[in-house]
Amino acid sequence: MQLPPTTQAWTVRAYGGPEVLELQELPLRAPGPGEVLIEVRATTVSSGDRRVRALDLPAGFGVLGRFALGFRRPRRAVLGTELAGVVVAVGERCRQFGVGDAVIAFTGVRMGAHARHVVLPMGAIIVPKPERITFESAAALCFGGTTALHFLRRARLRAGERVLVVGACGTVGSAMIQIARQMGAEVTAVTGADKHDLARDLGAAVVIDAAGFDPAAQRPGYDVVADTYAGRFRQFAPLLAEHGRYLAIAAGLRDMFARPLGSRRSIAGMAAERIEDVVELAALARAGEFHPLVDSVFAFADLPGAHARVDAGCKRGSVVVSMAPSAGGSAHQ
Ligand SMILES: NC(=O)c1ccc[n+]([C@@H]2O[C@H](COP(=O)([O-])OP(=O)(O)OC[C@H]3O[C@@H](n4cnc5c(N)ncnc54)[C@H](OP(=O)(O)O)[C@@H]3O)[C@@H](O)[C@H]2O)c1
Repeated sequence: MQLPPTTQAWTVRAYGGPEVLELQELPLRAPGPGEVLIEVRATTVSSGDRRVRALDLPAGFGVLGRFALGFRRPRRAVLGTELAGVVVAVGERCRQFGVGDAVIAFTGVRMGAHARHVVLPMGAIIVPKPERITFESAAALCFGGTTALHFLRRARLRAGERVLVVGACGTVGSAMIQIARQMGAEVTAVTGADKHDLARDLGAAVVIDAAGFDPAAQRPGYDVVADTYAGRFRQFAPLLAEHGRYLAIAAGLRDMFARPLGSRRSIAGMAAERIEDVVELAALARAGEFHPLVDSVFAFADLPGAHARVDAGCKRGSVVVSMAPSAGGSAHQ
């Protein structure tokens, strides 16, 4: 197959709002030895992309963030942590995938998925796409799913335990409900009134309204509290049972070092990016036990619109960007 000489990618030229994004024509190179070239069919704009684009990091990470991400602008000009697509060329010594294979890739902190094509080494996180899910759904498998798996594994969640998910209908929260349920836990969700039915559909046994939610007024006894909104260990510790675990998924720097309170402890840090987790999520999706929640699907040409949707702070699951000619700006698919 003759490859086009260039491809299109959205690049970020400064920290700021969606207006800092620019659609550029970039050279497209053939995959080298041990590399694959993937034609992207769908990707997402995640809360991680928004944090990098806007340099809007959890409390305490300001200066550290510039060191890690770039001082004046993101060092990685093309954002995007996850994608689903089709392999269109393979380099020498690449036996794992062939031309025409539908795949999911988790580019994670290396980013680069907001492009029509990506070249990835075979060591990257690439797994076959389950046939039963669409490219749009497959693109939304990794960011929330791997975060939920990572934190639930660190919490050593056991069947029969009680889990409270706070911020339950975002990308991480919606994955957390489904995976905790799949692991045999009983899930209570805290979410807005317009999302109660959705939280139940995802697998929550009990739903608590987020409006006026006060941890101090709740009945204690949760084995795990998964907080996708902020780092609030001290506030939530009284809700935990003996040996309870608080998952500080959106923790600031101080929360990273929160000391245990008696037998109750906080778990924070960056979720690991492991191919085993994506294989597990794909298997769950194949078995119909994990459905990445899709908030909306935007056309690639309107990727800044997808960023604006994430900025609005009211999405349900993931904001997907599709290369399909028919895709376009629709919310709540
Ligand atoms: N530690 C890690 O490695 C890691 C990995 C991925 C993400 N994260 C972080 O985890 C957080 C969640 O990510 P995400 O992608 O799931 O984001 P998201 O889709 O935007 O979900 C965040 C959820 O927080 C809730 N929320 C929004 N405004 C709120 C408010 N004012 N008060 C209380 N709750 C509010 C909402 O829940 P409802 O819709 O249910 O009301 C919202 O869906 C982000 O801060 C992200 O940076 C961390």
